[in-house]
Amino acid sequence: MTEGTFYVTTPIYYVNDKPHIGHAYTTVLADVLARYHRLMGRDTFFLTGTDEHGQKVQKAAQRNGLAPIEQCDATVVRFKELWKKLRITHDDFIRTTEKRHTEVVREILQDLYDRGEIYQAEYRGRYCVHDERFFTDKDLVDGRLCPECRRETEELVETSYFFAMSRYQTWLIAYIEAHPEFIQPDFRRNETLGFLRRPLGDLCISRPKSRLAWGIELPFDKDYVCYVWFDALVNYISAVGYRRDPAAFARRWPAACHLIGKDILTTHTVYWPIMLKAMGVEQPRTVFAHGWWLAGADKMSKSLGNVVNPMDMADRYGVDAFRYFLMAEMALGQDAAFTEELFITRYNNDLANDLGNLVSRVVKLTAAQAGGVVPAPGAPAEAEAELKENVLGAVAAMQASIAGMQIDRGIERAIEAVKAGNRYLDKTAPWKLAKEGNRERLATVLYHGAEALRIISGLLAPVMPERMAALRRAIGLAGEAVERIEIEELARWGGLPPGAEVAESGALFPRITPPERAAAQAPAAAKQAAPAPGAKPLLSPERLAQVELRTARVLAAERVAGAEKLLALRIDVGGAERRIVAGIARHYAPEDLAGRDIVIVANLAPAKIRGIESHGMLLAAADGKTLGLIVPDRPAASGSAVS
Ligand code: MSP
Repeated sequence: MTEGTFYVTTPIYYVNDKPHIGHAYTTVLADVLARYHRLMGRDTFFLTGTDEHGQKVQKAAQRNGLAPIEQCDATVVRFKELWKKLRITHDDFIRTTEKRHTEVVREILQDLYDRGEIYQAEYRGRYCVHDERFFTDKDLVDGRLCPECRRETEELVETSYFFAMSRYQTWLIAYIEAHPEFIQPDFRRNETLGFLRRPLGDLCISRPKSRLAWGIELPFDKDYVCYVWFDALVNYISAVGYRRDPAAFARRWPAACHLIGKDILTTHTVYWPIMLKAMGVEQPRTVFAHGWWLAGADKMSKSLGNVVNPMDMADRYGVDAFRYFLMAEMALGQDAAFTEELFITRYNNDLANDLGNLVSRVVKLTAAQAGGVVPAPGAPAEAEAELKENVLGAVAAMQASIAGMQIDRGIERAIEAVKAGNRYLDKTAPWKLAKEGNRERLATVLYHGAEALRIISGLLAPVMPERMAALRRAIGLAGEAVERIEIEELARWGGLPPGAEVAESGALFPRITPPERAAAQAPAAAKQAAPAPGAKPLLSPERLAQVELRTARVLAAERVAGAEKLLALRIDVGGAERRIVAGIARHYAPEDLAGRDIVIVANLAPAKIRGIESHGMLLAAADGKTLGLIVPDRPAASGSAVS
């Protein structure tokens, strides 16, 4: 039965390219929701996976000189690695090339065909051979040119198979209107209803193998493969036992919450419900469409070079800080900006200042004033009652925010509780109590500070599992209590056992210093006379080991508009491309640089220089007059370590 079950899905991702922030976001969101629901004791199932058929994947394979399945096998690893790194706790990972999926799709197709829900007809349209796509008349430029490449399109008539969607239009409108929780947020429901105001056509679900061979063959016509969306959507049920394991299926379906990005709303709120209806399967409980991450005010796109790489962010600032930013910064449903500045500001405010500070105060005071042991509290006074009310209020708010799909609000409220904890310490001034020798009051205050942290760490654990486990160990929790968190214990004050030994470890969230504009300073440095060796402080080997020097190959270079000293370089570092801005324009012409090997500081935090994100710094020797690139003496593969 579905009572109490929570089945959350992400879109299955195309394997034509490496994962980006959009993929990371939905998957972290699903993970956080799944972790909260588990914490609340619900039967939870979390599915993610990859969408491996269709033109995008076939084309990527061709580009990379691979067979399509090799392309899939190579890329799926990158997704799986990223999920491991981001601490994603999915229960299953489905690939649409797996037999458990393809066979179910074929059975569904056959069944729909047998019952006349799929029929054969002629498809007539304008086709662009170059882009391999059909366009409707209204898309065409000058009535005949391809809107993508402006080449001449041709009239093509093709036998195709259609899914009879139009006959369900009236039903779908009525269903959406009768089930307000089906499409969320509200404005997305209105968007779908708006779309359904126009007549709905039938959906062409076949592609002739002559044009696209990479897909699931239609069981009733071996010359065709299935349209990729018709195949992909089925993953949500093929993964949980549809047509294979009725008991397992009944346990998960229809309690599904499909998380999607706003761009795939129509496929999920028009095609998918109608497919299910035609199959005679119940509708999923909710389709929730989130907004997009933008690079500042702009769309992220490969051609603009502003796509955030989730791997890099997690490497640079830590996985949990990255997860926290994604969840706290985006109001679910709306678009949000992702910039390094916003990231650092939020991290420093919420995590380093508020939460990190509270932890360090409680742990240090307990270590210094109570022998490192959480003391048994005395009778609570008004300040304690106030703190308790605030923290327990945050627990209730978090539960409501999860149910209402407003995670950012729950997090904000948890940070409010952290602030209340810091205010409590300011007000009760335990350091003064220690000086005055007021041991009982001191014990009460230290206990309450630590108890507030026990609850807050539990509340934020689904967002930052590793850092919150560290926090829980720091306040003396051990064994199962570190990671096994249950809502009942969070909603009850006094769960921290007195006598727990606190552990002073390094800062939980060390403050981030905003990246220095190192590259921008390069031209200024070049002007200075060579400083005397030894002018800077001595470096320990540990500090030196933090600097990552690598070789890189310059792919292209160009001048930076309005900055006569700067060149923007596109470089390859061990197969990954990035940009750096360097103050070398007075010494090198852009055309002299392409193809050259250079040495860079590879782990310098990225900084925006004249609107261009510069990631790394090239090394050059400068004596004030001339400047020369530091280059490897013998050829070395791009990305080689320099030591
Ligand atoms: N394969 C289809 C989904 C099939 S589901 C049955 C697909 N794959 S995708 O890899 O192209 O995109 C996956 C998701 O990434 C989409 O939900 C999309 O909205 C999301 N995002 C892509 N760029 C994004 C941002 N910049 N920000 C947030 N999410 C974005 O579509």
